[in-house]
Amino acid sequence: MNYNEALEKLSKCGQEHALKYYDELSDSEKLELLAQIEATDFSVTLTCQNGKEESKKGEISPLAAMQLDEIESRRDEFKTAGVEAIKAGKVGAVLLAGGMGTRLGSDNPKGMYNIGITKDVYIFERIISNLLDVVRETSTWIHLFIMTSDKNHEATTKFFDEKNYFGYNKEYITFFMQEMAPATDYNGKVYMEEKGKIATSPNGNGGWFISMAKWGVLDIIKKAGIEWLNIFAVDNVLQRIADPVFVGATIINNAAVGSKVVRKAARDEKVGVMCLEDGRPSIVEYYELTDELMDAKDANGDPAYNFGVILNYLFRVADLEEIMNKNMPLHIVEKKIPYIDENANLVKPESPNGYKFETLVLDMIHLLDSCLPFEVVRNREFAPIKNKTGVDSVETARELLKENGVEL
Ligand code: UTP
Repeated sequence: MNYNEALEKLSKCGQEHALKYYDELSDSEKLELLAQIEATDFSVTLTCQNGKEESKKGEISPLAAMQLDEIESRRDEFKTAGVEAIKAGKVGAVLLAGGMGTRLGSDNPKGMYNIGITKDVYIFERIISNLLDVVRETSTWIHLFIMTSDKNHEATTKFFDEKNYFGYNKEYITFFMQEMAPATDYNGKVYMEEKGKIATSPNGNGGWFISMAKWGVLDIIKKAGIEWLNIFAVDNVLQRIADPVFVGATIINNAAVGSKVVRKAARDEKVGVMCLEDGRPSIVEYYELTDELMDAKDANGDPAYNFGVILNYLFRVADLEEIMNKNMPLHIVEKKIPYIDENANLVKPESPNGYKFETLVLDMIHLLDSCLPFEVVRNREFAPIKNKTGVDSVETARELLKENGVEL
C-alpha cells in the first residue's frame, strides 16, 4: 500500500490524522505504518462515531443448570465417559491469554504475575499445575493451545520457555496469536502510540477459533482427532481444566457446548447468567438483568437466573466450524489506552480514556443450538484475578488458594 492508498483508506473512516507525522518517519518506519494501515480494519471505529448502539436482547427465559446433587449422583458415569474421551485424545484445552489485563496494572502478561507469598507462584504455573492433575489422572498428555496477542506473544512464549513449561510436555503446547483492533478516543478517532504506530488493542476473546484457523492450528486439531475444546480464562487460578466429569456430562448430554457455572452469591452479583434468548442458549449480562428477571422463580421456586458463567466452556469442534464465519456483535469497551499527545509525548492514562472494540466468547454460545450449564462449587473452582486489591483480586484469590490447600 502506498501513501495515497493509505490516505484514501483512512479518509473513509475519518482517520487521516494517523499520517500526521509521516514525513518525519524513517523509510522503514514509513513502510511499517503503511503496512499497519493496510492490515487494520478501521470500519469498527465507525460503530462508535455513529453512536454507541447496544444490540437488543431477545426474549429471555430460564435455562436449567445441571446442579451439584445430580452431578454427584452421576459422577462415576460422567467421569468414565470423560476419561475415555481424554484418553482417546478427543479433548484439547485453549488458554485465552491475549488480554491486556489493564485492571491488574502490570506491564507483563497477566499469567506472569507472581501471586506467591513465601515462594514464587505464577498464574501460568497454577494453570499448568491444574491441568497436570488431569494428565496424571488419565496418563494422557492433553494438547494445550495458548492464545496470545501482538502485545504479549514474545514475553509469554519466552516466559514459558524459561520456566521449562512448568513441567508440561512442550510437544503438546501450541501458541497462536489473536488479531488486533484499533483503539480510539471517545470520538472514535484512533490514538497513535508512536509517531509511526497506531494504538491497537487485542480484539476481544471472541475471535479465538477464527484465529486458530488463521494460524493453521486447526490442522493440528484435525490431525490429532480433537473433537472438544475446553477454553478458559487466564485469570481463574482455581479452575479445573479438561475436568473429566464436566467433559463426560457434556458428551452424554449431547450438548454443543458445556458451560461451567457457579451459583450466584447475591441476586445482583455482577456476573453474566445463563438463560435462553428467543429459545436459544445465551448469557444475560448483569446490567441487562431487570428486577423482574432477578426475582423470577423456576418450577421448584428457586431463582430462575441463578447461575453465573466463569469463562470455562467445552465446545464441540464440529459445531465451532459451522458457526465460525457467522457475525458476532461488536462490543465497545472503555479502556486505558496509552497514546502520544499533541507534543508527541507518550501518555499512560490512569483512568479510561477511550474505546477498544471486542467480540466476546460468550456471544458464541447464542450461535449454538444447545448448551449444558454445569454447576461447580464456587470456592473450589472460581478464584478470578482481575484487580490488585478488593473484589476478584490477588488478595481474594490468595485466600481461596489457601482454603484449597495450595501453598503460596
Ligand atoms: P478480561 O475480560 O478480564 O479482559 O478477559 P482483559 O483485557 O484481560 O483484562 P482488563 O479488562 O484489561 O483488566 C477475560 C479473558 O479473556 C482473555 C483474557 O486474557 C482473559 O483470559 N482475553 C481478553 C483475550 O484472550 N483476548 C482479548 O482480546 C481479551
